[in-house]
Parts: sequence; structure tokens; C-alpha cells
Amino acid sequence: MTLADETLFNHARNQLRGLCEVAGFAPGDETPSVLLRELLGPAGARTLSDGPGWRCDVADDQTPVEFSIAFDDDGRRAIRVLGEAGGEKPGHSDDIAAGKRFLNALSKRFHIPIERFDAVSDLFLPPRAEGTFAVWFSLIFRPGAPPKLKAYFNPQVRGDDQAQDLVLEGFRRLGLDHAYDTIARHALLRGALDRLSFFAVDLDDSPLSRVKLYVSHHDAVCADAERAAAAVNGADPLRIREFCQAIGGETTTFRGRPLVSSYSFVSADPSGPGTYSLYLPVRDYVPDDEVARERVAGFFARQGLPARTLDRAIDAVTSRPLHAGVGLLAHVSLRLGPFGSGTTVYLSSEAYHVAAPRRPADTVCTGVADSAITP
Ligand code: TRP
Repeated sequence: MTLADETLFNHARNQLRGLCEVAGFAPGDETPSVLLRELLGPAGARTLSDGPGWRCDVADDQTPVEFSIAFDDDGRRAIRVLGEAGGEKPGHSDDIAAGKRFLNALSKRFHIPIERFDAVSDLFLPPRAEGTFAVWFSLIFRPGAPPKLKAYFNPQVRGDDQAQDLVLEGFRRLGLDHAYDTIARHALLRGALDRLSFFAVDLDDSPLSRVKLYVSHHDAVCADAERAAAAVNGADPLRIREFCQAIGGETTTFRGRPLVSSYSFVSADPSGPGTYSLYLPVRDYVPDDEVARERVAGFFARQGLPARTLDRAIDAVTSRPLHAGVGLLAHVSLRLGPFGSGTTVYLSSEAYHVAAPRRPADTVCTGVADSAITP
């Protein structure tokens, strides 16, 4: 069997198994693979040479899943899979139906409460959804703990002009009437350059379960992120600066894919955001993954995080030389706030395509990675 004959599910499952092993899961726990199979649905049975089944924005090469490994400063690790449950036919209405099927199957089997999804789904999942996606999910695995689930909605799903109203109403229904004001004052100050990009809900009933709003900052400088972070008590802007410098390198204005801020609100404390996270799409600001890895390892060294674990996680998803492509390390994020801080590295599955490294002349961050699909 050649590599191209492998199914998408097998390819992604092997990557996920490797990551779970790195994060210290007991060997033989098949729960992550079971959830991955459900998330991929029929797309999982396609071979890699079939190519992507639908247009999907989860990852640059249209693989419908993306992995991440979270390094909490207290030493805890989590493995996550972000994904779109694809429909059989192209179009968001089919994706929405597939997403709901996935959620129903999972909630029964793993006792996942879906009240928060139901509370906002008519807002964010209209019959004629627009934009890059309608609903995504993330599977969250921690060693020795039951799996958790998060749903992501698209504030732009009814068009740009409705985004703010949708988010306001979403927060209101979840008992967070004042959440938007704080965010508007810190992160929505540059007109169309600051854009509402995701509205996410944790699907569990713990008092620390969260509602999150993400804002993309186009053409931003680090100071914009520092100002955004100031909305959260105890989020030290100096750490944001160190992070932008370590991961962004020489970049001063992030003109490629945008910096993204997210705020999370816990039901236990609706008075203000409990956590600020900054996501930096490192792949647009490096010539290749070897440089991306060096930057992340440098940041890890300063934070006292284990670069060795980072390297093992990279080896779990790929065996290609890092300098041979760009985009394996897709984003890096820093999370700050009184509920704990940490660093997360997002790793692409690259099931369908590896983007070619950039020549020095393009590294000035036009930011547009080669998007051709070559299975
Ligand atoms: N691929 C999309 C992007 O890069 C969406 C996405 C996937 C994303 N993972 C992410 C956005 C992590 C922010 C952070 O924009």
C-alpha cells in the first residue's frame, strides 16, 4: 500500500496516537481515535489520493482537522483536535447537518451536555449560512480525564453587518450581558481591521466552562495585542511582547494572516473575561518550519517549557524534514490570566499537501502560502 492509498482517518489517527503518547496518555486508550472517527465521518474513509472532499478552512491544505498540544505552565498537557464534520454534499447546510449528527452521537455516548449549543444554534446556524464555515468542533483530551468538546460558530455567518448583533445576542442568551463591552473597548478599536472571527462554547457543565469570543486583528502591531490583553486582570502585557518577538521574529506589522485575540468568560464569574489568549499564525512569518520550530523552542526555553516534548510532538505528526515545507507549525498561542497560563502549538496534519518553503524574497510576509493541492 502506498501512502496515497491510506485513508484520511488512518493518517490522522496515527498522528493523534503519537501525540497522545507524547502527552503521557496511558497506552491503549482508544477514546481519542473513536472521537476522531466520529468527527471525520464519511470523509475519514476517503484515501489521501482522493484529495479533500469539500472546501474547508480548518487547515491550509483543506485537511478537515488540525492538532494542537497545550503546555500549561503548571505542567499539565492537553491534546486537541479542531475539525469540521463534513457533509456528503458541498455547502454549509450539509456541514451543519453533519455537525449536528456528530454532536448528537457524541453527547449520548460520552454524556456531553449540549444545552449551550442549543441555546445559540438558531442564531449562528441559519438556513443560508455565508462565510468560510458554519460550525467547527474541538475535541480536548487530557490524560486520565474524560474527553471534552467545544463548538465554534462563525459570527459572519449572516454577513458582516450582522456579526456584532449575533455576538451580543449569543452572550445575552448565555447570561453574559456585559461581556461584549469590555472586548469592544480593548480589541475592536480599528474599524474593519478588527473582525469578529469565532464565537465558541465549551460543552460541559463545570463552573469553569467557558464562552469565548475571538477577534482577528488585521495588519496589527504587537501594541494592539498588548492593549487587547489589558482587558484581563493579571494578563501581563510584557509577556505578550516577549511572545510576539520570539515567535514573530523581526516582524513589526503582522500583514499576513492576522494576530487573533480571544477572551473567555466563565459562568462562575460573568463580571469580566477570565482569560486572554493571543494566537500568532507563525507560518506566515517564517521561511520554513525549521525556523518556526527554532522560534518556538527559543520561546519554550525562556518559559521553562520542554523543547524536547515539542520535538517529540512534531515527530508524531510528520517525518518530513522541517526545512522542506512551511505550515506544519500553523499557529502558536499564549494564554494569560488568573485561571492559569500556558502555550499551545498548533500542528497541521498535512494530509493533502505540504506548502513549499518561501524564498527569502517572499518572506516579507505577503503571507499567502502556496495553496495548490497536490495529493
Ligand atoms: N485555518 C484558519 C486560520 O488559520 C482557522 C484556524 C485553525 C485558526 N486553527 C486556528 C485560527 C487557530 C486561529 C487560531 O485562520
